[in-house]
Amino acid sequence: MKTIQVGLIGFGVIGSGVVRILEESRELISRRLGAELRLKKIADLDIDTDRGVPVSREQLTTDVNDILEDPEIDIVIELMGGYEPARTFVLKALENGKHVVSANKALLSKHGDEIFTVVEEKNLAVGYEASVGGAIPIIRSLREAFAANPITLIEGIVNGTANYILSRMSDGSCDFDSALREAQEKGFAEADPTFDIEGIDSAHKIAILSSLAFGTRVDADKILVEGISTIGREDIQSAAELGFRIKLLAVSKFNGESVDVRVHPAMLPKDHPMASINGVLNAVRVCDQWMEENVLVGHGAGSLPTGSAVVGDVIEIARGILSGSSGRIPPQSFPKALRRDLPLLDRDDIRSAYFLRFKVKDQPGVLSTLSGILGSHAISIESVLQKERSAQGQGVPLMIMTHTAKEKDIRQALSKISELECIDEKPVLIRVEK
Ligand code: HSE
Repeated sequence: MKTIQVGLIGFGVIGSGVVRILEESRELISRRLGAELRLKKIADLDIDTDRGVPVSREQLTTDVNDILEDPEIDIVIELMGGYEPARTFVLKALENGKHVVSANKALLSKHGDEIFTVVEEKNLAVGYEASVGGAIPIIRSLREAFAANPITLIEGIVNGTANYILSRMSDGSCDFDSALREAQEKGFAEADPTFDIEGIDSAHKIAILSSLAFGTRVDADKILVEGISTIGREDIQSAAELGFRIKLLAVSKFNGESVDVRVHPAMLPKDHPMASINGVLNAVRVCDQWMEENVLVGHGAGSLPTGSAVVGDVIEIARGILSGSSGRIPPQSFPKALRRDLPLLDRDDIRSAYFLRFKVKDQPGVLSTLSGILGSHAISIESVLQKERSAQGQGVPLMIMTHTAKEKDIRQALSKISELECIDEKPVLIRVEK
């Protein structure tokens, strides 16, 4: 039986999952592939810590060139994360004629064009299923299964850590900090959990998905990104009372001219397909005129779910090597020459319904002042909810749900409202996706 040799760079949480899956599924993989996958080398700066998975001393190295310059290695798996030196290593692997599998969403969202260009020029293959949605086959779906679909909308819950925190806060069992600690202990969170909490990780992922769906480059640094750190228990409770759930949502819409790409907490009606995606589960909803909608759900983080997506890519690339058809599918779904530059919708022009939470002094005329300012900015109110005065006699929470309005108008109105003497705290804004 032929052997395909693999090198792994980065022996962390996902890398350990890959090693375990390659070992425990060895026979199944060989039968599916008709060849053997051999993990020849693993490179990491720490080769002493026992990861609890079967590796021999000879497999381990601290010198990445033992992989990048080994002519016997066909496929390089990059699981080190971050921009550099990951970019340099991936480019070197490609220059040396090796196929690449990566789970590195930060790298691919920023340097994807450069990397994919080399992949296409050298007729190699790149797999990055594990970079978005862990075990959910969304990259493969966009590249292959949805190739006939003129996609207009992608909505994603694509950060397991943020979803875990919001879910634990919603079911009342944890506050923000202990839910984050749990997610870190379970190996879901990024090395820097700010990326999870502040929406940066989701921005990398929605940039990758937008690029695949619309054949355009989306710069994650240019899109609207808001995280979950401003969301309080009172927002979650009020949302529930109004029949909504709060999720960190990544959105990408194409209107035929521009793409509206953003990441922010969103209130979803409780019967929305994404509203019941809880814990570390991720989901991606893809809509178009032919299939209407398709919702893919699965574990979005964790060693084994994400590791299985990595190994799935390795098998797919190995099949291409064995059949002499590597590079059959363009890395970004559209060949480079047929991609285009679509403008990003200006933030001011985003349209949404809004949930606004104020802490106001409980005195006559406050509500009419607020509604007057909203009205003068063409913002129409759908409903109002006022909570009781707290025991300490401080301001009262006042919640307003608006009809669809323009982001620019909402921002201007909120800036005026924030200056009012009757406003006790900075207002909270949550977009409502209906
Ligand atoms: N930190 C990420 C998450 C891991 O929580 O979803 C998967 O990319």
